[in-house]
Amino acid sequence: MKKVLITGGSGGIGYALCQIFSQNGYQVYTIDIKKPKDLDQSISFKMLDLRDYKAVAKYANSMESIDILINNAAIQIEEPFINSSIDSIQDVIETNIIGTLALTHKIIPKMSKNGLIINLGSIHGTIPRINKMTYDMSKAALEMMTKELALELAPNIRVNQLNIGATHTPMNQVFDKDQKKLEDAKNKVPMKHIFTPEEIAKVVYQLTDDVYQYMTGSIIVYDGGRSLV
Ligand SMILES: NC(=O)c1ccc[n+]([C@@H]2O[C@H](COP(=O)([O-])OP(=O)(O)OC[C@H]3O[C@@H](n4cnc5c(N)ncnc54)[C@H](OP(=O)(O)O)[C@@H]3O)[C@@H](O)[C@H]2O)c1
Repeated sequence: MKKVLITGGSGGIGYALCQIFSQNGYQVYTIDIKKPKDLDQSISFKMLDLRDYKAVAKYANSMESIDILINNAAIQIEEPFINSSIDSIQDVIETNIIGTLALTHKIIPKMSKNGLIINLGSIHGTIPRINKMTYDMSKAALEMMTKELALELAPNIRVNQLNIGATHTPMNQVFDKDQKKLEDAKNKVPMKHIFTPEEIAKVVYQLTDDVYQYMTGSIIVYDGGRSLV
């Protein structure tokens, strides 16, 4: 049975990823800072803060082997840079960059030939916007991580990234509260669509297909055309 480790499986896209991999016969491991409401019994959940590097290392070291690592957990804080505290800047950088690197660093030795790492990125790793600088910077860093690791780990382990557009998840809970914001966001997308977590999970799952066995270092954009306008 193939094994996949998914970060941030308690909500949003991570939760949908756990479901689709489990339904397709994978042994699924997931970590999150908070407990999921109702993950499948067969999914192995560990409450873990990616910013706690020692605990992350201990967890990774305890694993026998992993076939696929999906770096999905991330946080986004919306605030003008000038008003942000060092604590909030640190939270984003420690979760999205350092915690992600720390886990990846410890999981790579657990991967055999044909290992695969998929990073969840954003079109805002290259397209700037207002009030989300630290998060967008973290996604820009993730792109370079994807490319450099792909170089370092070939031909044994492949590393790819899916850069997605707006998705209706707890990270975007503003869509639940404000229908107008949801409509505005939709209207900015040429395909007039905001993704569901399940739609994104399906695309990530497709990327694990053997048909892509020579794809590495690739940044795939799946955004309904949002980055074109
Ligand atoms: N949603 C979008 O529109 C969108 C667009 C582009 C890219 N993405 C990317 O897609 C990925 C998934 O996003 P999402 O929208 O599903 O986010 P989400 O709904 O906020 O889910 C992320 C999960 O990760 C957990 N998490 C946060 N900090 C953590 C930490 N330090 N250690 C362990 N787990 C932690 C979260 O817990 P808490 O809920 O307690 O924080 C949450 O359960 C992210 O990498 C995100 O940047 C999302």
